[in-house]
Amino acid sequence: SGLTVGVDVGGTKIAAGVVDEAGKLIASTRRETPATDTHMVLEAIADGARELRAGHDIVGVGIGAAGFVDAGRAKVLFAPNLAWRDEDLRGELSMALDLPVVVENDANAVAWAESRFGAGRDHDDLVAITIGTGVGGGIVSNGRLLRGGFGVAAEIGHITMVPYGRRCGCGLQGCWEQYGSGRALVGEAREIARHSPAFAAGLLAAAGGDPEAITGEMVTAAAQQGDVGALHCFDEIGRWIGLGLAQLAAVLDPSLFVIGGGVSAAGEVLRGRVEETFRANLTGRGHRPVAEVRLAELGWESGMVGAADLARTSDDSAVPGS
Ligand code: BGC
Ligand code: NA
Ligand code: ZN
Repeated sequence: SGLTVGVDVGGTKIAAGVVDEAGKLIASTRRETPATDTHMVLEAIADGARELRAGHDIVGVGIGAAGFVDAGRAKVLFAPNLAWRDEDLRGELSMALDLPVVVENDANAVAWAESRFGAGRDHDDLVAITIGTGVGGGIVSNGRLLRGGFGVAAEIGHITMVPYGRRCGCGLQGCWEQYGSGRALVGEAREIARHSPAFAAGLLAAAGGDPEAITGEMVTAAAQQGDVGALHCFDEIGRWIGLGLAQLAAVLDPSLFVIGGGVSAAGEVLRGRVEETFRANLTGRGHRPVAEVRLAELGWESGMVGAADLARTSDDSAVPGS
């Protein structure tokens, strides 16, 4: 019990927050993520936690990290989109802060937060998928976070969607995150800007005429204005995401999918497309219940809130909503 700090370590920003037992964010702070040096990332995390701790009585820290976290919730074994290899975050941070620290996968933290306090409050079996630089996943089954045999369950971004397809940071080819991520969204936008400038006129205007200057935020904003080129980019990633959800439904049969991550800020533009392809590719279609597809409710807070809640107790079996 008591207050805990949750830290969401992203590729560009580190967000840290003080969270209470009801999942409420009481205070927060942000840092830029130092680009290359892993040690500096640890320093920035510790610095954020110290700042929050100065004003609040903190009993533990949860770190949500974008990588494969070991069963002991201590180490990041591997991170496809970061330089982390076998990094003992818990060892280093618990020493630096003199507090209990647990390390969690970033998307697991989102899944947990949404199941306890967000879009999945009323569901015991859900899969959260985070659409950002990569594609992350978290599975809540019968009210519990599924960790697998080695702690690295729900690495759904690295399911092979296209045999021998695009290269992935994990070392494989054709992974789902090469087709359904924010990076894929931007890649598609830049490609149409290079090859079909008329079709991409709206995107190019937003980017000052330079295809390489197009960002995910630009694609989202243009899509919300009804720009055809930008909507095409959402057609693309929406299809890939929906197709993947249908595969997950065949294995896990969740009653709910929650779409989170930075790209989910696009809202219905993304959700509707994902749901359409999910439904069209669901096995047993027409003869079975169909999972709902909802947007995450906790937005940028969810990684922090989930990591903080998971740090509060080593028992993560609490039934959502209880
Ligand atoms: C990583 C996951 C992470 C996801 C979202 C993937 O590339 O393998 O561990 O959860 O990106 O950040
Ligand atoms: Na995960
Ligand atoms: Zn991969």
